[in-house]
Amino acid sequence: MDLYDAIYNRRITRDFKAQSVPDDVLQKIINAGLQAPTHDHLRNWEFVILQDSKDKKNALQFIKNGVNPQLEILKQMLTDGTPQQKMYADAMPKQYTMLFNASHIILPFFKSNSGVLKPTSVSSLNPLSSIWCVIENIFLAATAEGLACSMRIPFGEEGLNVAKVLGAPDDYLLACYIGVGYPAEDRAVIAQVGYTAKQKMHFGKW
Ligand SMILES: Cc1cc2nc3c(=O)[nH]c(=O)nc-3n(C[C@H](O)[C@H](O)[C@H](O)COP(=O)(O)O)c2cc1C
Repeated sequence: MDLYDAIYNRRITRDFKAQSVPDDVLQKIINAGLQAPTHDHLRNWEFVILQDSKDKKNALQFIKNGVNPQLEILKQMLTDGTPQQKMYADAMPKQYTMLFNASHIILPFFKSNSGVLKPTSVSSLNPLSSIWCVIENIFLAATAEGLACSMRIPFGEEGLNVAKVLGAPDDYLLACYIGVGYPAEDRAVIAQVGYTAKQKMHFGKW
């Protein structure tokens, strides 16, 4: 797939087919992640991969699966809401299933330093910025392979708890959870607010 096609077709997807991603394809998309730019030239990134239901349940145990999709307010948002409200209404009830039902969960860890959780400037966040370059490469490579990804940012102590149950070293942080798999035919596709480059470009000064 052409790079621009992958960029334009990539969408966060929360509904998957029950179909397994082959190991060689999984390796290809992780290798694409490893080509990302890195702030310290060291690529201190590690990936925990989960396919077995028991392992998935273990890692997802800290996600509160409590938002009921039948809530009137969510149903109303899905029909009458702004694109942002519709995305929220679709996403919130699926935070667990969009990961559990994906073929694999990829957990990208990055080596942290004291600045990441107590930043004093944008550069304090370099380890986090680098892993997000990795994550976007993974999303684009997955799209190029006909796959799709879900993604959740761990909330509060969630990431530290996941790291602990998986035995990650203390100086590695979990950036997010990624579910990867084949998108369901009837997956929810929420319209986005569209922008053109012209609307966002400021020549000379803002
Ligand atoms: C930093 C960041 C955090 C996000 N957190 C979540 C999340 O916790 N749960 C979720 O379902 N989606 C999450 N998303 C996905 C967004 O909802 C999604 O990217 C956005 O609605 C645009 O849709 P698109 O990616 O399909 O273009 C996150 C995206 C980003 C970039």
